[in-house]
Amino acid sequence: EAFRVVKNPNPATDAERAEKLKDLAFGLQFTDHMAHMTWTADGGWGDRRVEPYGPIPMDPAASVLHYAQEVFEGLKAYRWADGSIHLFRPVANAERLQRSSWRMALPELPVEDFMASIDALLELDHAWVPDAPETSLYLRPFLIGTDVFLGLRAPKRVDYLLIASPSGPYFPGGIKPVSIWVERDYHRAGPGGTGAAKCGGNYAASLRPQMAAYERGFDQVLYLDAATNAVLEELGGMNVFAVRKDGTVLTPIINGNILEGVTRKSVIQLVEERDLKVVERDITLAELREGIEDGEITEVFACGTAAIITPVGRIASADFDVTVGDGEPGDVTSAIRQRLTDIQYGRAEDTYGWMTRV
Ligand code: COI
Repeated sequence: EAFRVVKNPNPATDAERAEKLKDLAFGLQFTDHMAHMTWTADGGWGDRRVEPYGPIPMDPAASVLHYAQEVFEGLKAYRWADGSIHLFRPVANAERLQRSSWRMALPELPVEDFMASIDALLELDHAWVPDAPETSLYLRPFLIGTDVFLGLRAPKRVDYLLIASPSGPYFPGGIKPVSIWVERDYHRAGPGGTGAAKCGGNYAASLRPQMAAYERGFDQVLYLDAATNAVLEELGGMNVFAVRKDGTVLTPIINGNILEGVTRKSVIQLVEERDLKVVERDITLAELREGIEDGEITEVFACGTAAIITPVGRIASADFDVTVGDGEPGDVTSAIRQRLTDIQYGRAEDTYGWMTRV
């Protein structure tokens, strides 16, 4: 079933859009339309439509407002030099949205509907895909429980929305290295919890520690596992990697607590392409700290769709404060970032079949 189109009666003019696409930051501008589908327990997925971007009136008893029945995704559409538009591994996001939905007792959106919603939205809003360096159209698909019931149960009505935000760098400083605070008092996830699901609650819970880190002068928080408080998990919204002097690259293993990053998975492939070894395993904070102190670990970086690959220049907690390497982006970090973005922006051949033309 095709998406019905309800055109925005007041879309941005060419001049207004050009103005909004200037000096883009992350996640502040939005396109003229959004895609929308509704699921009901009786009828399944239906009412596919693209409609004007705008407020979504809902009943104050809607379940998302009370019990946080929400999951989301993030992926980007890139403008290539020839003007064409390409998505990076969209099926991986569609499939992860299904896994997140399963965990949160939300209905799974078929991959075909996920893909069709992007096509339908970009059919109308393709002019919003920016072309300045380091910019893209960030796509934010999400599901919310909208049934009107205060009892706690799997919702019987759910809405899927896809909004799009022309964006520049996630961090205002661009690719300048960030500093991270290792959090010992709070955890992002615990065994059997929702750490692997991309649900809004995980991100909400990261904000208090994030505020405390900001106050201490740090950009981001690195979480440890809840069971032992010793093993690295991930940052508030990014996976983490460490590069050893001998070229081995380490990253926490997927253990049900951390997000299965699409960028993470891609970085692993790109590291292996350089004939470096990637080891997915438990990494203790002690190993990280000592490795940095004695020069065994030369680079640390974080990765995610929004922030791409971000070098980490400094890591600290209550009892230590270390500079990674010389505090500047390392060679492996820079090379992987360059290679990944070359593929994403069509500057290099897409040897892995990652890109999907819209
Ligand atoms: C992304 O990297 O796309 C995310 O969803 C993380 C979010 C904190 C922006």
